[in-house]
Amino acid sequence: MRTKTLFYCTSCGNEFPKWQGKCPACGNWNTIVEQPAESKKASSPARSGLRQKAVPQRLADVTTSEELRFSTGMSEMDRVLGGGAVQGSLVLVGGAPGIGKSTLMLQICNELCKQYTVLYVSGEESTRQIKLRSQRLGVTGETLYLLSETHLEDITDAVHQVRPNILIVDSIQTILTGSSDSLPGSVTQVKQCTMALMELAKGEGLTVFVIGHINKEGSIAGPKVLEHIVDCVLSFEGEQHLSYRILRATKNRFGATNEIGVFEMLDEGLAEVPNPSEMLLSGRPEGAPGTCVTCVMEGVRPVLAEVQALVTSSSFAVPRRTSNGIDYNRAMMLMAVLEKRGGMNVGGCDAYLNVIGGLNLGEPAADLATILAFASSFRGRPVPNDLAAIGEVGLTGELRTVNGLSQRLSEVHRTGFTKCMIPSRNSARLQEIPGLQLIPVKNIREALAVLL
Ligand code: TYD
Ligand code: MG
Repeated sequence: MRTKTLFYCTSCGNEFPKWQGKCPACGNWNTIVEQPAESKKASSPARSGLRQKAVPQRLADVTTSEELRFSTGMSEMDRVLGGGAVQGSLVLVGGAPGIGKSTLMLQICNELCKQYTVLYVSGEESTRQIKLRSQRLGVTGETLYLLSETHLEDITDAVHQVRPNILIVDSIQTILTGSSDSLPGSVTQVKQCTMALMELAKGEGLTVFVIGHINKEGSIAGPKVLEHIVDCVLSFEGEQHLSYRILRATKNRFGATNEIGVFEMLDEGLAEVPNPSEMLLSGRPEGAPGTCVTCVMEGVRPVLAEVQALVTSSSFAVPRRTSNGIDYNRAMMLMAVLEKRGGMNVGGCDAYLNVIGGLNLGEPAADLATILAFASSFRGRPVPNDLAAIGEVGLTGELRTVNGLSQRLSEVHRTGFTKCMIPSRNSARLQEIPGLQLIPVKNIREALAVLL
């Protein structure tokens, strides 16, 4: 009998009956791989003996004690998880190789071990290597158990033997289960192992952290494939050549997803950065045209961000435009507003926009700073160094109000700025902050007149 094969996208996990160069679901190229179709029986985790039969319960009878949170000992991590990790949940920590996922996990062990038993399973490193790393990071702990293992069944046995409160699996792409004959890192293996770990988490009330690599080439299945299975997806991001890292939740069954945690990678491991604004602004050029600072809300926390623009005359028939950290279409709209309502002839220019530090500004509050950065670069005149700009820009060039302005202004003031441009609509109800001069403006013409 011919074995049936299916085609999976390693990036998004969708299945297709035939091979294609580009995945129609997620748009990635060369991520579709051929894999034997799993028989329904084999793919059920029930076979591995992990599953306990569930019985229907009345809502009133369900105890909420399982939903207990505990602190990971790292406040940035707790913040992203929505106030600590939830007992019996499965958290997936995704990120590019070498970004610091293993380091982060090993570091939280240090605090966790003071109260709980932790089993750290690595399919990538030997226990000796982990020991060396933990010595460098200053991680000790009586109740930290290490295991270098790739077979899911053996990991399960170890869990039953050690009975840890927390299980860390580094990384899901190296783990394989005997109930599937495809390769480790393939879509089916990764899914099945995660489902089995999920059963383990729910069944034993064990909190599981699973590390997942993201790779662009599509040779291994990425965390996206697992998003719908797990309780919480954290993504660990950063530029490899820069030292700071941002942890953000992209899915959280137990909390909000708009918080970020900021870390810095030092020689002795990851350090928490409780005030990211200073770090994101460090190295800001003085008196250079084309940069402007704004304040955005990351969850409930105001964070300062520097928007940089480079506008040059174009030598192409169609000008070149790129945008990094701000939605491309939004950036192009702001350029059009600047041309039409601000009277600056930027239409035929090449334009490059960048937000420093790998931040993604999804908020319209960054509009005014973006426009000012464009205009400043176009005119070749710098925005004053001690000025920040906050405000949404509409299509007629009007400035619109933003929420949480007083919070943003305190952050602007705290980081040493003395002036802040805000929408004039907002200014009426604001409490004065001594040492911070507010510049209320109605539209971008006024903003440009004040500045340039
Ligand atoms: P690692 O946690 O192994 O990355 P991942 O598990 O995401 O693949 O981190 C790897 C990088 O971190 C490595 O290139 C060196 C750097 N690093 C430090 O700068 N300081 C440290 O203390 C440690 C342990 C790693
Ligand atoms: Mg690692």
